[in-house]
Amino acid sequence: MNKPHYSVEKVLRQDDHLVHSFANLDALKQDNARTVITRAQGAYVYDAEGNQFIDGIGGLWCVNVGHGRHEIADAIAKQLKDLDYYSTFYNLTHPLAAELSQKVASMAPGNLNKVYFGNSGSVANDSAIRMLQHYFNRLGKPKKKRILSRVGAYHGSTYMAVAMTTPAYRDGWDSADHLVDFLSSPYPYRRPDNMSVEEFCDFLIEEMEQTIEKIGAENIAAFIAEPILGAGGVIVPPEGYHRRAWEVCQRYEIMSISDEVVTAFGRLGHMFASKEVFDIQPDIICSAKGLTSGYQPMSATIISDDIFEVISAPGAMFMHGMTYSGHPACCAAALENIAIIEREDICGHVRKVGPKFEAGMKTLEQLDIVGEVRGSKFMMGIEFVKNKETKEAFTPEDNIGGKVAKHAQQRGLIVRPLGSMAVLSPCLILTEDETARIVDILRESIEAATKEG
Ligand SMILES: Cc1ncc(COP(=O)(O)O)c(C=O)c1O
Repeated sequence: MNKPHYSVEKVLRQDDHLVHSFANLDALKQDNARTVITRAQGAYVYDAEGNQFIDGIGGLWCVNVGHGRHEIADAIAKQLKDLDYYSTFYNLTHPLAAELSQKVASMAPGNLNKVYFGNSGSVANDSAIRMLQHYFNRLGKPKKKRILSRVGAYHGSTYMAVAMTTPAYRDGWDSADHLVDFLSSPYPYRRPDNMSVEEFCDFLIEEMEQTIEKIGAENIAAFIAEPILGAGGVIVPPEGYHRRAWEVCQRYEIMSISDEVVTAFGRLGHMFASKEVFDIQPDIICSAKGLTSGYQPMSATIISDDIFEVISAPGAMFMHGMTYSGHPACCAAALENIAIIEREDICGHVRKVGPKFEAGMKTLEQLDIVGEVRGSKFMMGIEFVKNKETKEAFTPEDNIGGKVAKHAQQRGLIVRPLGSMAVLSPCLILTEDETARIVDILRESIEAATKEG
């Protein structure tokens, strides 16, 4: 192992100036329990002391092709030497932005043929909403502005994206509440006791229809949904839910936005999950993370020909754009990343190893505090409960997710604590043996956390 290049004390001193994302900033002031990651290779990351960890969270649901891919680094460096930066404003373009837009359009389902590049998942979602607002204005339907979202959803941290995110994520923070209505979370594990999963699905669809009737379809622009709710607890909706919700949207002329920021580019075994896994043809797909595997910050909002036709009609002006939309270095990273996914058949690998990973993870349900293991392929979560019979939840003070994550880290695995859950979204290149190792470490960590009480 290489000697660490960094003094941990120095990094932590400097880090006192850094405003961490989604952190208890006060707790960070008090203690130095921060992990300094200095290096990464393949499915592993290393801390400043040289300790190796399986990267169980793929950075942040994003390092799909694994760390340390020199092909991507080389493609970025080459592009920066050829053309460091130019914008895609007005009539300007550059070869890689053009090539990437065509490539993404060729992979997206159906008539999703136009691509707007941004620099984060939040921006992808905000851009989708802005485009739809303009679309309906141009159609002479300026009242069609409200968005249907779901309790448990996570759509990002910009102003509109956070308004569509589950209210629990913005306690004490403001948001554009007047634009969003929330439907129930499609959360089978915590469905009402007296309902079968099928009845629960009926309930969710009826609730959606009733909400639309109450608000009026003439006031609703879109329904936004992650195929599997990620940060809201890796919630896999009941079978058929997405198709039925999409049919409701079709019936009421409500646009369907699929937030595939996590699921696109291989995590569920396909480039896009909407059509291939959930049998829906959204009007817009939002993607980010896996687009570059996190090597560069980039997102793609992919819109239908129908939407594009309206917003590009004579007299229309596209009044939306960011300095870094279609940045050359991001395009280079995305093109090389997609080439790797295709060349190495990473989607095929996920379809082969993913179900074995799921099966291994499911064995953890034997443990006393594991209420449910759920998810699909390389997107998994464990919900811990105090009592398996009653499903009594742990309290935030119990910090059960944090305890399990701490024990896992001591054993060489980084997982994401999420309330009373531990969440996994590892790199998609993990071997079957490595997924089995994750399960072993989790078993030991959950047992250790249970003993700790
Ligand atoms: C489903 C989903 N949508 C949107 C976002 C926001 O993406 P970003 O953090 O790149 O803004 C995330 C981030 O985790 C996400 O999981």
